[in-house]
Amino acid sequence: MKATITTLSGDGIGPEVMAEALRVLDRVSSRYGHEFVTHEALIGGVAIDRAGDPFPQETRRLGEQSDAILLAAVGGPQWDSPSARVRPEQGLLAMRKHFGLFANLRPVKVYPMLAQNVPLRPDLLEGVDILIIRELTGGLYFGPRQEMGDGDTAYDTMLYTRSEVERVAHVAFRAAQGRRKKVTSVDKANVLASMRLWRSTVNRVHEDYPDVVLDHVLVDACTMHLIMRPSSFDVLLAENMFGDILSDEASVLAGSLGMLPSASLGEGRFGLYEPVHGSAPDIAGRGKANPTGMILSLAMLLRYSLNLDAEAKAIEQAVEGVLADGARTGDIARQGETVVSTREFTDAVIAKL
Ligand code: IPM
Ligand code: MG
Repeated sequence: MKATITTLSGDGIGPEVMAEALRVLDRVSSRYGHEFVTHEALIGGVAIDRAGDPFPQETRRLGEQSDAILLAAVGGPQWDSPSARVRPEQGLLAMRKHFGLFANLRPVKVYPMLAQNVPLRPDLLEGVDILIIRELTGGLYFGPRQEMGDGDTAYDTMLYTRSEVERVAHVAFRAAQGRRKKVTSVDKANVLASMRLWRSTVNRVHEDYPDVVLDHVLVDACTMHLIMRPSSFDVLLAENMFGDILSDEASVLAGSLGMLPSASLGEGRFGLYEPVHGSAPDIAGRGKANPTGMILSLAMLLRYSLNLDAEAKAIEQAVEGVLADGARTGDIARQGETVVSTREFTDAVIAKL
């Protein structure tokens, strides 16, 4: 097949993990006979520096002409001043909104060979396989906000409409139908009006999916259940900011934040794919980054936007094989284990493809 992908390397470790994903993509294209055309564009801090805008017009245009966008990471201390006029993160949020990518899928898988890295009892990790579905274009991230001129007051608003909750709830129930048929919806309905709307809407959508079991859990309790009984979750559906927080917490189960991929989807096949981790400026440019989240994001791109399930599976199995062989980047190495570089880890993945 022929496909066009916009690549956004962004900041920090972004360029180095993106370079590895592109080598994997190259291997997939020669191995399976596909033609992938990639165009690199600017996003985040590097886009502020070079184009004065964290989500430049040219990036928008290239994205619109692509089948999918692959993004590495944005942000860094040089753009972090509280008085900054624009921030790298605004580019990412604007892009999610622009493309209507309201459903963010973040699979959390436990690799048995990394269980030793997890600060939880190994028996708690058995059978852990969670799909977090984070609402991505509404809620606390996008409601009305203001920093008052007096510098003493500021507010953000958690605002949802019924239809915003409905569409992401449908994604969660449909995903559960292909899995263990359970949705846990996270809210704070005991305090927040928007979260009471969330809960009643999820209940209504659930009527269309009688084969799926639904339960509701308050977000504070959810943080606890995630570490006390992680294997009880199948699909975890959450508001934008709650999903942001819970996915970092859940990443601990996978051994490292560097392991997690994500897919951001809207109504069609187009999607934005990015690792859950950030730009890690402290290790940028040193070949230390774990490319797994990035490489697995590429696998999700092939599966969801290009319908190449066999190719996606091959990448996932290659990563798993490499981990089973003992390859470890610094974030997933235990004391005394040999650490491989970003590139060496990817070489091993490519060798298995
Ligand atoms: C994420 C990140 C982003 C978010 C930041 C970089 C704006 O934390 O994708 O989880 O908060 O959505
Ligand atoms: Mg986050």
